[in-house]
Amino acid sequence: MAVDLLLGLQWGDEGKGKIVDVLTSKYNIIARFQGGPNAGHTLVFNGKKHVLHTIPSGIFHDEATNLVGNGVVIDPVIFKKELDKLEEQDVDYRKSLLISRKAHIILPTHRLLDAASETAKGKAKIGSTLKGIGPTYMDKTGRNGLRVGDLELNTWKDKYRALADKHESMIDFYNVDIQYDLKELETDFFEAVKVLKSLKFIDSEEYIYQAQKSGQSILAEGAQGSLLDIDFGTYPFVTSSNTTAAGACTGLGVAPNKIGEVFGIFKAYTTRVGSGPFPTELFDIDGETMAKVGHEFGATTGRPRRCGWLDLVALKYACQVNGVTQLMMMKADVLSGFKTLKVATGYKYKGETITHLPYNIEPENVEPIYSDFKGWSEDLTEMSEASTLPSELNDYIDFLEKELEIPITIVSVGPDRKQTIFR
Ligand code: GDP
Ligand code: IMO
Ligand code: MG
Repeated sequence: MAVDLLLGLQWGDEGKGKIVDVLTSKYNIIARFQGGPNAGHTLVFNGKKHVLHTIPSGIFHDEATNLVGNGVVIDPVIFKKELDKLEEQDVDYRKSLLISRKAHIILPTHRLLDAASETAKGKAKIGSTLKGIGPTYMDKTGRNGLRVGDLELNTWKDKYRALADKHESMIDFYNVDIQYDLKELETDFFEAVKVLKSLKFIDSEEYIYQAQKSGQSILAEGAQGSLLDIDFGTYPFVTSSNTTAAGACTGLGVAPNKIGEVFGIFKAYTTRVGSGPFPTELFDIDGETMAKVGHEFGATTGRPRRCGWLDLVALKYACQVNGVTQLMMMKADVLSGFKTLKVATGYKYKGETITHLPYNIEPENVEPIYSDFKGWSEDLTEMSEASTLPSELNDYIDFLEKELEIPITIVSVGPDRKQTIFR
């Protein structure tokens, strides 16, 4: 059976966690394929909010198997905290949670290196989540990393020590004021590794292959968003993995011809957390309203998210690189009450009008060209049928579907599982 993918099309936080949870009942296996605890995926049901960082968003469904794929980077300390939270909720994760032996481990010194690198960059900092993501992927591609499978070998602590020592000299090299007590960090780390080792490690590409062969349905859960992709995002203000569809092939071992549906998720407006260009960013009352009504604060870092209008140029680009087959529009409820909505349909770039995403999208290079749409005043949060959606919202949706040539099959009207309208 083909593997379906679910990916964010903007700068992350589109609502991936919510929709994976909504769709899980249709799948046997939910698999994360990249990123790590930089992600914060929020699920809301039965009046309770849950935030997952590394664990796939299918974990609250008893019947689903949840796989942390080889493309993911795992911080045992954060992973343990996630497990503790699940235990508090009486979630029996032991039988349903599998971890790839080829996934890489985030060391305490990776986190310190992230902080040192960001401090050294000063104003030019990426605005990383400081979870050690960049340094861990650097060690992966530099062929120095520590993998989950290494933890099964007696020699893993020697490998750990050599790597951590090297990192310490690299931290010194940055010559910045980073205060840390490595011994203390290591106590937590080794404790957490013990917990991690009590879980089931597998050769995940073989598992995925056999699962496909035996007709099991698989949904791959993306983290971050397409505009944070290491190749196609707003480099260098990106994360260190391929967040786009191809990342699911390398991050799970799924052959390209075995990909089925590609679900692309976007907010009805745009947000970004951290540094980097954002052409449709708002600095006025409209942006403030989106932030306030949408509770736009990072699920991992708590930082306020920057807000702005929907950017169709960027969205088209994300649909192209991912081969999106179905779209899901999130947080439509947040736009209720705006008199006029704007969508960027092109950019003014070096004196010309363009409709594709250029190499440079810094504010000095591009100026968005907007189309206006009439807003709606109805509260959408109690709606459950597509037929009840206001006509102005339907016009907005029709326009996007026509421009993107992809159907919008879900409209989300609130954070809860139930606030999901299928079209
Ligand atoms: P993810 O990283 O893509 O899983 O998204 P996050 O969880 O970081 O951010 C999405 C935020 O929006 C969370 O607080 C969700 O609970 C919330 N959310 C998801 N869908 C909707 C929606 O349709 N309406 C509203 N108002 N909030 C939503
Ligand atoms: P989810 O999966 C939003 C951003 C950071 C920073 C840049 C690099 O919840 O959508 P990193 O720590 O990866 O080196 O940071 O990427 N970032 C995210 N922004 N949602 C995320 O994940 C993010 N993961 C990383 O803010 O700008
Ligand atoms: Mg998030």
